Amino acid sequence: MQQKVNVRVDGERPIGTISPRLYGHFAEHLGRCCYDGLWAGDHFRPDVLQALREMPTPFLRWPGGCYADHYHWRDGIGPTRPTRLGMSCGLQVEDDNSLGTHEFLEFCEQIGAASYLAGNMGSGSVQEMCDWVEYCNTSVNTTLKQERESNGRLEPFGVKVWGVGNENWGCGGNYSPETYGLEYRRYATMLRDVDHSAEWVVCGQVKDWNERVLETLKGHLELVSHFSIHQYWTRGGPGRDFTEAQYYELLKEADETENFVVETRALIEGVAQGKRKIGIALDEWGVWHPEARGWGPDSCEIKGHNYEQACTLRDALAANAALEGFHRQCNSLSMCNLAQIVNVLHAPIRTEGDKMWLTPTYHVLHMHKPHFWAEALPVEIDGEMVSATASSKSGRTAVTVMNRHFKESAQVRLSLPGEPIRFELLASESAADENGPDAPERVRIQPIAATKDGNDWVIELPKHSVVTIQT
Ligand code: AHR
Repeated sequence: MQQKVNVRVDGERPIGTISPRLYGHFAEHLGRCCYDGLWAGDHFRPDVLQALREMPTPFLRWPGGCYADHYHWRDGIGPTRPTRLGMSCGLQVEDDNSLGTHEFLEFCEQIGAASYLAGNMGSGSVQEMCDWVEYCNTSVNTTLKQERESNGRLEPFGVKVWGVGNENWGCGGNYSPETYGLEYRRYATMLRDVDHSAEWVVCGQVKDWNERVLETLKGHLELVSHFSIHQYWTRGGPGRDFTEAQYYELLKEADETENFVVETRALIEGVAQGKRKIGIALDEWGVWHPEARGWGPDSCEIKGHNYEQACTLRDALAANAALEGFHRQCNSLSMCNLAQIVNVLHAPIRTEGDKMWLTPTYHVLHMHKPHFWAEALPVEIDGEMVSATASSKSGRTAVTVMNRHFKESAQVRLSLPGEPIRFELLASESAADENGPDAPERVRIQPIAATKDGNDWVIELPKHSVVTIQT
């Protein structure tokens, strides 16, 4: 039976601005994400670079993840680089450091991304991280600035966002929240003197850790710009052979991400009391299927996984559900970074040898481009299985509507200000459909027809699909 649903965009009560940083990404030296996926030994893969530019990729976090708390930045600069044990999430690789600070930051410039570097608080020191900030950002004529110049970069890189460790409750040193909070104070106090304009990210986790870290930082909140939380979805069963119930469970879990943001905002406000604006950095999010779970949520076994998993239409719908929540929480969230950018976990791009293909999640992200820098708008919907998000910018409106039903299409009657000029649909016969090296366009963006009825537009949305309409 087809559902009939009315969707009304409320142009009168804007929620806030949707920063492109909510569409950030995460590149870790883990499995085939950086080495092989992005970096081909001495250059970035041109096909991947072009696809990232077009996605687009406004913001990119590097080099980890757990890798960050092992990483020594000096290994990745200059003409002679040591080969080290590359370590993250139980994997050990021979890491020749050919992809280092200059390569990464220049890559960001080429794809139009602002950069976010995560510093080492596990095996590093305050001085090491201060030196990295100085090396990247100073215009004062110091020895580190001269070294940067002799390595080919005259202008400061101007890296704005710096993570002070990563998951320091676990892989980043197994700190207690109080010890981490005190260490954070020491790091951030020194770092801030190196670059007054940079933004510092403190590491959060679940409620108890967050409360205790915030308690330790109370009185020093001027040292904190962003509060990091991570959310991986693990309840959706297998990546490909999932049931209808597991399909809905994954979407539910994606929706719940918003609750985590709201809960974290309340904790921060309880301490900041309106005196300091601290953004929530959801700097790792996405699906983590059991096939890729040798290490990570709900597992501590290391089975030699490479962290690669199926990337189906269902995962793209889950990403879209989360993005709806990000728009509603755009005043609380200061950044979101999908994990990870190529090949690993919830990747928008996959590669195999010379072949590259875009996953359904890439297409959903691309369809959200009109929402960048727009004002998020409330949407009223009178049906359970359809959800939507809308925004307006320079007098133009964009609405992304999702039919979540596993089996049934939906007739959506849309009332919005202005005349639509563009309709884009992401759909496929099965929610388990995906792209691959031999079928790179099985799931792709297609045009969709709509009919005008009075002042409304009527669209027939296929089962488990997403459409973006732009005026
Ligand atoms: O994204 C994979 C890993 O998940 C990251 O290295 C870590 O931060 C998280 O536990």
